[in-house]
Order: sequence, then structure tokens, then C-alpha cells
Amino acid sequence: MSKILIIAAMADVELNYLISNLEDCKIEKTNLCKFYIGKIYEKEIILCDSKVGLINAAAATTIAIEKYQPDYIINQGCAGGFGRNIHKSDIVVGTECINITSIMTKFKKEGEGYSLDDWELINYLAGEKDRLVPQKASDKLIKMIRQMEDTYIEGKIHYGVIGSGDIWNKECDRIIYLNKKYGILCEDMEGIAIYTVANQYKIPAIDIRVISDNEILKEEYDRNISINIQKFTMNLLKEIF
Ligand code: 5AD
Repeated sequence: MSKILIIAAMADVELNYLISNLEDCKIEKTNLCKFYIGKIYEKEIILCDSKVGLINAAAATTIAIEKYQPDYIINQGCAGGFGRNIHKSDIVVGTECINITSIMTKFKKEGEGYSLDDWELINYLAGEKDRLVPQKASDKLIKMIRQMEDTYIEGKIHYGVIGSGDIWNKECDRIIYLNKKYGILCEDMEGIAIYTVANQYKIPAIDIRVISDNEILKEEYDRNISINIQKFTMNLLKEIF
């Protein structure tokens, strides 16, 4: 039977429903994060309250893997929609993730100023400058989601790139630029960290997000909408053996 690690950054809205469905719940705390261990649908489940941001997410994922050796990792929560067709309450399945705060700026002489338009997203891999390498989700988990996606009736399901960073973009022109140039469907603050760590350990991972806000559509932030993704995750658990 599979052991499944589910990570969320804002436990009060992104884990509360899953915690309430956890049987035989045991709590374990570390200096960085908190775990709720138990069973859902007879499967071994580890719920991880990672807290917000890339550093917390990377640390929590590493601790969880070392402590519990999960077979699958699900990162779930809310995110900001970047496309004109990505509405509040839709779900984005992150087939790939990129780091939107890993940047190299163009050289400019003193006095030449600075411009956000010249900032390029790149990965700092030894010997591979100027290259943006996305981290990929597990094909197996994507396939499982395709099999149960019609259980979600509150919105559409989109598959594509999630942009993660320690940033909350609210400038519409920047959002449109990131959407057009890199194909980013939504923005969160944890996905890339979790994919990067999970891929190093070769553990299948997926980032699934319900859209809580979309600046270009003037759809205001509602973090409580995260209940939708928790219910979706519950249904996804039925597919995993
Ligand atoms: N931009 C960045 N992060 C967002 N989140 C929800 N909407 C956005 C957005 N527009 C999520 C992040 C983080 C928390 C603040 O909410 O993943 O965990």
C-alpha cells in the first residue's frame, strides 16, 4: 500500500479538511514544519504543514522524505491565475514548474538604470548559464488526475506550467508578460521547491492548485477557496494504490 505525502503552505485553509478526514491521527513536530500522520481510504497519509515560501517548502519536503520515505508527493493549495482563461475556482495541474525568482539581469553601465523587461529567468546550474530548465511532474500522477478530473464541477481543469517564487505579482503587464513568454498558467510560492527536491529523490510528485485570485480578470483573492483543492485531492487519493 502506498505512502502519500501531501504538502500545503497554509494549513488553516489548505489542510484543514484533509486533517479532519484523517483517521488515527498522530502529530509530529520539527523545528521547521508539522506533520499529521494517519489514514485516508485505508492509505498511509502524511500531511505536511510546510509554511509559505520556497525555502520552507524545500526544507519541509526534504525532512518529510528523509523521515517517512513516501511513494508519492502531492503539493496542493491555492494560486494566482495568469491567463485570461484561468478563472477563480479553476484548477491548474502543474505538468512543469519554473522558478520565477531565479533571474539574471542584463549588464548595464553605471547611470544606465534598470529595467524589469531585461530580467531573464534562468537556472543556476554549474556550467549551464542562461538556461531555463523546468522541473517536471510525474506522468503517472498526471494520468491518474486525467482519469478523475470530471469529479470536479466547480471549474475547469488546466494542464501546464506553474511559476513559483518568493513573489506575489500584482502588476497586470508583468503577469501578461510571464504568461506569454513562459506559458505560465498560475503563480504559487512552493511548487518549484517541491518538484526540485522530489525529482532529486526520484519520487513522483504533482503540484495541483485551485485559483484563488486573478488580477487581470479582477477576481479578488479568496484563500478559503482552497477547500476545493482539498476535496479534489481526496478524490485523487482514491486513484492511488
Ligand atoms: N501569487 C503568489 N502566491 C499565491 N498564493 C495564492 N495566490 C497567489 C498569488 N497570486 C499562495 C502561495 C502561498 C500563499 C500566500 O498563497 O502559494 O503559499
